[in-house]
Amino acid sequence: MDVVILPSAADVAAYAADVVAARIAREPDAVLGVATGSSPVGIYRELARRRREGELELARLTCFALDEYVGLAPGDPHSYAAYLEREVAGPLGLPADRVHVPEGSGADLEQAAQAYEQAIAAAGGIDLQILGIGTNGHIGFNEPLSSLSSRTRALALSAQTRADNARFFDRPDDVPTHCLTQGLGTILEARQLLLVAQGQRKAAAVAAAVEGPVAARCPASVLQFHPHTTVVLDEAAASGLTLGGYRRPDVAGRGDAEQQRSLDDPPCS
Ligand code: F6R
Repeated sequence: MDVVILPSAADVAAYAADVVAARIAREPDAVLGVATGSSPVGIYRELARRRREGELELARLTCFALDEYVGLAPGDPHSYAAYLEREVAGPLGLPADRVHVPEGSGADLEQAAQAYEQAIAAAGGIDLQILGIGTNGHIGFNEPLSSLSSRTRALALSAQTRADNARFFDRPDDVPTHCLTQGLGTILEARQLLLVAQGQRKAAAVAAAVEGPVAARCPASVLQFHPHTTVVLDEAAASGLTLGGYRRPDVAGRGDAEQQRSLDDPPCS
């Protein structure tokens, strides 16, 4: 696991965008797994800026969402499908049919979960999966005690996750109770993982994921099994880490050849 600690949330977004851009430069038709929520927004905006300024060509990408709420009407602005249209498809110039989201508004969730796994496989698997982390250590919506080899499925959101996500809704009771999410086993099959976290409220979950034992009580700890994971943190999110040896690249030197090499070949994966 390559853990990179940077001074600010803006630096996290820029560094993570560099990781994504490096992958796309090598594979312009890459399949990207895209998290929603607040953590990756800076990455998407930075990629969109680079596209606008002609630095990056994104038109050949395919994207797969990590998860979707169950029970929201199609087109509900709180759905992750709507989020991805706003933050990813539009700004990155992708046709809607190349941004896939699990079907959380249908009647047969089991069938929707299987269809989603099949769609990922038919696209050749995910090349780079962008992840955030919940305050309880979830990735996707794999809540604590999820099987470490789980596949895409419907499950109940924890009280903590519903409380955390209430900020995106008018009233706490409006937060859906269930979701469809890629499983931890599904996420581990992506060829490269990129987790970003900002702020003090993520510090305990990040410490458990990076330094704790691999355990279902912190689902993100399963990333320790993956051979190519980059974790990009601001100082606040990294403040619970107690071991040494994490990378603190010189942000002023971003883009130089040495930095580029480290993006392509994480030293301790
Ligand atoms: C969203 C997702 C979740 C979020 C996590 C953090 O697609 O999969 O795991 O990444 O809940 O959410 P934010 O970034 O809003 O703090």
